[in-house]
Amino acid sequence: MAHVIVLGNEKGGSGKSTTAMHLCTALMAAGKAVGAIDLDLRQQSFFRYLENRSVTAAQDDMALSMPRQFTLRLSNEDSAEAAQAEEEERFAQALDTLDTNCDFILIDCPGSDTRYARMAHSVADTLITPMNDSLIDFDLLARMDAASGKVLGPSVYSELVWEARQLRAKAGLKPVDWVVLRNRLAHNQAHNRRKVGKALENLSKRIGFRIVPGFSERVIFRELFLSGLTLLDLKKTNRLSLSLSNIAARQEVRELVNALNLSDVKVSF
Ligand SMILES: Nc1ncnc2c1ncn2[C@@H]1O[C@H](COP(=O)(O)OP(=O)(O)OP(=O)(O)O)[C@@H](O)[C@H]1O
Ligand SMILES: [Mg+2]
Repeated sequence: MAHVIVLGNEKGGSGKSTTAMHLCTALMAAGKAVGAIDLDLRQQSFFRYLENRSVTAAQDDMALSMPRQFTLRLSNEDSAEAAQAEEEERFAQALDTLDTNCDFILIDCPGSDTRYARMAHSVADTLITPMNDSLIDFDLLARMDAASGKVLGPSVYSELVWEARQLRAKAGLKPVDWVVLRNRLAHNQAHNRRKVGKALENLSKRIGFRIVPGFSERVIFRELFLSGLTLLDLKKTNRLSLSLSNIAARQEVRELVNALNLSDVKVSF
C-alpha cells in the first residue's frame, strides 16, 4: 500500500501547496514513485505549480521529475447524498489507480471544509498541517480566550481530524501521524516565536499532534511558483541563485523530510 500524506487545514494561505510541492520533489529525489492529487478544485495551485514545472523543463531543455497526477471533479448530482456517494467512488478510484504504481500519494487540500477534504483526512497515514507562526492563526487548532490566553476547546478543524481518526480506528487502520509545521517563522520576532511555541506544545498533548521543524519567512518561496521549481532544484538551474538564504531554506526542507520519519526515505538532495 502506498503511504498517503495529506496537507490539510482550513486556513487559506498557510503553506499547504508550497509544502506539498517540496515534499513531492523531495520524495522523487529519494527515488520514490509519487502520486499527486489536488483537492483544491477551484485554485488548483498544486497542479498549476506542476504545470509550470513542465513548461520550465521544456523551455530550458532540462530533465525535471514529475509525479503521476490524478484529477478529480466535483459531482453534479443534485442531492447531497448522491453527490457524496459519487465523490466517494471517484476518490476511491483515484487512490486505487495511484496505489498500483506509487510508493507515496500526496494530497493537497483546499483551505476549506469540503467532502473530498474529509475523505482525504480519513485516509491519511501522515497529516501535515502548516500554520503561519502567529497566535492569530492559532484558532486553526483551538479556540482560545483572548484575555487569558487559555485554551477553551478544539477548533472545528481539530474536531474534523478527530472524526477522521475515529473512522480510521473503526476501519482497523493504524493511527494517523498528525504533524503541525510552523511556517513563515520570522527571525526578528523571538518573543512571538516563544509564545506560539509554548502554546503549541501545551496543545499538542491535548489534541494529539507533534510539532516538526518548519520554514522561515523567505522571499524565495513566493518566487518559485511561476517556474514550478523547488529548493531541491537549486543546483540544476541558473534561474535560482545559490544564495545563503536559499541554501538555508533547502536545509529546512531536509529537516522537515527527516522529521516525518517516512519508512525507507533517505534524503538525497
Ligand atoms: N515560508 C514562506 N515564506 C514566504 N512565503 C511563503 C512561505 N510559505 C508560503 N509562502 C507563500 O504564501 C502563499 C500561500 O502559500 P500556499 O499557496 O502554499 O498556501 P496554501 O495553504 O496552499 O493556501 P490555500 O489555502 O489558499 O490553498 C504563497 O504565495 C506562497 O508562496
Ligand atoms: Mg493551496
